[in-house]
Amino acid sequence: MFALKLPLSSLLLFVLLTFVAFAQKAPNFSTKQTPFPKARQVSKTWSYRSAKAHGNVTYPDPYFWMERPYTTDKEVQQFAANQQAFTEKYMSKCTNANAIDKSIRDAYDFNDYFGFTFMDDQKNPFYFFSLKRIGENRKTYYIATPAEFEAASKTNFANPPGRKFFDENALSVDGTASLSTYYFSLDSKYFAYLVTEADASVGTWYIRETSSPLLKASKTPGGDGRLPEAIPRCDGSLMWKPDSSGFYYTQVNDPKGGTNTDIGSVARFHKVGTAYEKDILIVHADPSQDSFYTLYESLDGQWLILINSQGTGEAAVYATRPLEQPLSDKMKWISLAPAKEDIIYSIAIVGNTFYAQSDHDAPNGKVVKYEMDWSKARSVSKLQDLKDKVNPIDVIPARANAQMTFSLVLDNDKVVLVMTENGKYVLYLYSLLTGKLIQPILPEETFTIHEVYYADSGSKHMMVTYWGPYSPRKSVQIGWDGTKIVATTFFVETVKGVAPGDYITEQLQATSKDGTKVPFFAVYNKNTKLDGTAPVIMHFAGAYGIIENLFWYPLHFSIMRLYGAVIVYAGVRGGGDKGNEWRIAGERLNRQNTFDDIIAVAQDLVKRKIAGPGKVIAEGQGAGGTFAAVVGRQAPPNTFGAILSDIAPTDWFLISRGIAGSSQVADFGDPNNATEFDVIRSWSPLQNIDPTKQKVFPPILLTPSDSDQYTAPAHAFKYIAQLQNSYPNSPNPFLMHLQKNAGGNAVDGNQATLIKKAFHQQCFVQLALGLTQRV
Ligand SMILES: *[C@@H]1O[C@H](CO)[C@@H](O)[C@H](O)[C@H]1NC(C)=O
Ligand SMILES: *[C@@H]1O[C@H](CO)[C@@H](O)[C@H](O)[C@H]1NC(C)=O
Ligand SMILES: *[C@@H]1O[C@H](CO)[C@@H](O)[C@H](O)[C@H]1NC(C)=O
Repeated sequence: MFALKLPLSSLLLFVLLTFVAFAQKAPNFSTKQTPFPKARQVSKTWSYRSAKAHGNVTYPDPYFWMERPYTTDKEVQQFAANQQAFTEKYMSKCTNANAIDKSIRDAYDFNDYFGFTFMDDQKNPFYFFSLKRIGENRKTYYIATPAEFEAASKTNFANPPGRKFFDENALSVDGTASLSTYYFSLDSKYFAYLVTEADASVGTWYIRETSSPLLKASKTPGGDGRLPEAIPRCDGSLMWKPDSSGFYYTQVNDPKGGTNTDIGSVARFHKVGTAYEKDILIVHADPSQDSFYTLYESLDGQWLILINSQGTGEAAVYATRPLEQPLSDKMKWISLAPAKEDIIYSIAIVGNTFYAQSDHDAPNGKVVKYEMDWSKARSVSKLQDLKDKVNPIDVIPARANAQMTFSLVLDNDKVVLVMTENGKYVLYLYSLLTGKLIQPILPEETFTIHEVYYADSGSKHMMVTYWGPYSPRKSVQIGWDGTKIVATTFFVETVKGVAPGDYITEQLQATSKDGTKVPFFAVYNKNTKLDGTAPVIMHFAGAYGIIENLFWYPLHFSIMRLYGAVIVYAGVRGGGDKGNEWRIAGERLNRQNTFDDIIAVAQDLVKRKIAGPGKVIAEGQGAGGTFAAVVGRQAPPNTFGAILSDIAPTDWFLISRGIAGSSQVADFGDPNNATEFDVIRSWSPLQNIDPTKQKVFPPILLTPSDSDQYTAPAHAFKYIAQLQNSYPNSPNPFLMHLQKNAGGNAVDGNQATLIKKAFHQQCFVQLALGLTQRV
């Protein structure tokens, strides 16, 4: 552990090292040789109420014109092109460009298996999964028998077992359509699949028989060989009836026939083999914005649960009995939790008991049950009129320093809880009926959970896919043998020439400004000397209560391999590393804690000699990218050698005006609230560029996407223009690489686009930190 009180000699040494490193800094950049591009300014201003100022605060937005849509506006396009040319000029100094490119491509060169599901609850059980190989942007789905699947394990899944069932490329001739989600009927006869265009979140349901594969593209939407019906404007929520006759689904309720999800959705029932127009309306839209439905029917068909949740998770829960009455919008329902007070997710229905994950008096989450009493059922014109409440009874209590992320039923009456505990994803098996812990599952695993799939609540198996900093995939089957869990590892993917045993993972903590201990992981090759010279690529999430650590990310791996760098994941406040309380400690009015924590970890790395002074790269995506920009400004000079701010909102007032705004309020506050405005104003990157307060900014590279619906590229355009204009003589480069024809997906987008971005990021840090290639 790092002691706060260092002996004086080591303090001196630290100061000396910092000084020397500052003098050595070699970003290979000079505005004398290459002045920043110029950009036109306008006199736009914004005014917000401020509590601190006891009145309105007005701030200028001179590059407001860049908010015009990139895809159609010539002037905005010209600005981005000038920036790109400037960036490429800098990148041309990477004399080992081929080696960087190869290092990144190697990190993408693996079999990208996904969505493993064991359909074990069948007469003829089978495995279902998808594969994407290097150079492919769309997945191919396969079906394999258990024998085929197990045989593939002998070759570490070098080739996919079984037969091709569905080629995502075949969904459209031009390759723009994608398969966004799917559900098999419980007898596996039918496969319902939601097809979306480009980056859209709303699409069309189609159905095909599992015996009718889709392998060839045609002009037919949804592909040839499917059933004739098509269900438009759906958001992906679907529940098959256990008898496989049809399914419940939700549909966007936009009266203009559009796809605006802010107008609520309706729930309907579709009978397989009938026209969509005959579908039965079951539940009318909840008029409140930001509300969506999910449906859940018990395996015996006795109960149907409807959950109506807000964007932040607070949910109302209703139940009905579909076998007692014809399906219609006049059905009788009971309400279990009508008030949207708690965050509730369904787990299972056993008999007349509904089991759910809830945060009722337990911010870290617990499992509760509701006894359902059908004698209270009433028919009402809208469900929101039902006001009866059922007291939830505790079944599995919350765990300390842990957050229940999600829960999956195993074998009808057991539950696998996916928790984040002390900064890591872990799995526990509990009995639903008694609430007793049966066993932890794979507690020794050092990788993080990428995905967990099961066929239905009667399944005795689950497929868990892990990923880690030096291995993109590890697939493990979890099976219940009647008394205990049996785990079978099917394969472990590695990058060519990499032995997983060569890497060390350490869990450490730093002390933040207010004394809080901040957990972090450091991952490095066993030959890397921690002598205070190594570069560190430091990643963080710090928002929405999520954890982003110990995961596979080609850029991190490539930087670790090529320069002997250390990958660090900082579990800073605002994320979920120590449960929901950790999130609260970093959100809204507490947001500064997130930044203090990031800076504390960076400084701790130097004190521990894990990082060389000035050799910490701050890297984040989305809100994490915002924070990277913030700490670049807030940290003492030379704390960070480079900032990688990926698809990041850098003007927080712009994100609040856009479609993503309402969902950000819970974590960041509402700029129209005078108190919260002051806090956002204190850190929002664009509004805090002030050369009178801040002499120098570290090297920074922004990587927006041109077609990002949530974080418009204007964030990056305005921010880079403002930085360059404010620091015309900057010793450090401020650069932008625009991802073309790309949406907001940082990890799963078009591979060629991602490789190009990673190349720019890696070349940039190599030049900015003066790194030399080791292998
Ligand atoms: C103060 O700001 C609010 C928005 O937060 C705006 O509606 C109002 O017009 C502003 N008042 C003045 C005097 O600018
Ligand atoms: C404004 O924000 C503060 C701090 O989060 C909160 O206490 C207050 O209730 C909010 N005011 C309104 C009107 O919502
Ligand atoms: C800086 O760039 C030049 C090429 O313009 C190159 O020769 C030199 O090695 C670079 N220096 C560093 C430290 O990367």
